[in-house]
Amino acid sequence: MSAEPFRIGLLGHGTVGSAFAGLLDERAGEIERVNGRRPVISGVLTRSRGSFEEVLDGADLIVELMGGTEPAREYLLAAMRAGCDVVSANKQLLSQHGEELFDLAREHGVLLRFEAAVAGAVPVVRLLEESLAATPIERIHGIVNGTTNFILSEMARGSTYAQALAEAQRLGYAEADPSDDVSGRDAAAKMAILARLAFGAPVHLEDVPYEGIEHLQSDDMEYARELGLGLKLIGTAERRDGGLSVRVYPAFLYAGHPLSSVSGPFNAVTVESEAITEITMSGPGAGGRQTASAVLGDVVSVMTGGARPPAPPLALRLLEDVPSAFYLHLDVADEPGVLAEVTRVLGEQGVSIKSVVQRGLGERARLVMVTHVVPESSLRAAIALLAQSDFVRSAPRTIRVIEEEFG
Ligand SMILES: NC(=O)c1ccc[n+]([C@@H]2O[C@H](COP(=O)([O-])OP(=O)(O)OC[C@H]3O[C@@H](n4cnc5c(N)ncnc54)[C@H](OP(=O)(O)O)[C@@H]3O)[C@@H](O)[C@H]2O)c1
Repeated sequence: MSAEPFRIGLLGHGTVGSAFAGLLDERAGEIERVNGRRPVISGVLTRSRGSFEEVLDGADLIVELMGGTEPAREYLLAAMRAGCDVVSANKQLLSQHGEELFDLAREHGVLLRFEAAVAGAVPVVRLLEESLAATPIERIHGIVNGTTNFILSEMARGSTYAQALAEAQRLGYAEADPSDDVSGRDAAAKMAILARLAFGAPVHLEDVPYEGIEHLQSDDMEYARELGLGLKLIGTAERRDGGLSVRVYPAFLYAGHPLSSVSGPFNAVTVESEAITEITMSGPGAGGRQTASAVLGDVVSVMTGGARPPAPPLALRLLEDVPSAFYLHLDVADEPGVLAEVTRVLGEQGVSIKSVVQRGLGERARLVMVTHVVPESSLRAAIALLAQSDFVRSAPRTIRVIEEEFG
């Protein structure tokens, strides 16, 4: 006698939901061969078909691929209260209501899997939850938004921001309203989820300061090339001075950093720890079939009794004033002594210079510098003083520089 099918209630049948249903159909036989039960979709809910109660009734697992926080939150809580395991790809939900969902999953002894909510097909959630569960993580750097990585890659090849965004929209990498991507908010949601997993601290989307890429100028890319740097939108979560810093910001990387070569609409995450030095994983961060493949991995994990929800959170202080090296772009009067004056103002705030590119522009000169690592507050104080100086001709621009290189 064959075993009962494994019944999956599917919430949402859009880009990812329909790709998931198709992939499940293709792979159900192989999953049954390995796990003994055949996964089947027992009910589907969309805006126009099905009811949640019918979909939940008799389901072994609820897979949520609707997006948005409500009613997705309400449905997942109801499913877990009914003793049903759940899988979700919903970063908004996990980054804003993760603790409530994890608490309820622990209380009811059910599984909550969410691999596809961060970095699409890149299995970073599993890496942190299972493979590195006993490894004290020091830092995670991630390129977790494919849209912005594509735009920055195009800008590095000479496009303006507007041209690169239009191309991303034409190719389907950017939505008609790209604001969550280009502002850094989408990446911030994913970094909140990763930080919770890596450091066990309750990090909420609203705790993650983020800067986007809208203000970047093509000439920043040109100078960066001269200085041997490439520009990425980076999410960082790191342990520092007994606290935790989680943030998203455009950053320059030297060629030796594993994320510097990640281009186009790809995602990649570097995990650093004393015991492992670093592990980098990269792959497609979005796309219906790619994301559905991560969702299907979660389904198989549930069928085989995979990892429990993360342990209750630890209290870790969130830090704001984080030291970094900085790229500094200044337009100044082309007069003798100006470079010395800039260096003096920076030096008085404890900011020292690692490299400089200087260009004459007629009456003005452009100074592009990379500083050594300084507290961000010192750099901001120096910038405020420079902005008031009579020899500075336009608002100074700064971008963080990540100095680590491996290998
Ligand atoms: N697309 C990607 O590449 C990607 C990558 C990683 C993660 N994700 C995540 O995957 C999830 C799904 O994304 P998607 O791109 O597949 O979205 P989508 O194409 O907009 O599909 C959403 C589906 O959910 C249904 N739905 C939405 N609100 C509903 C409601 N209130 N009640 C019932 N059904 C509702 C929609 O119903 P109708 O069909 O009736 O409109 C649709 O079938 C999101 O959490 C997203 O962040 C997506």
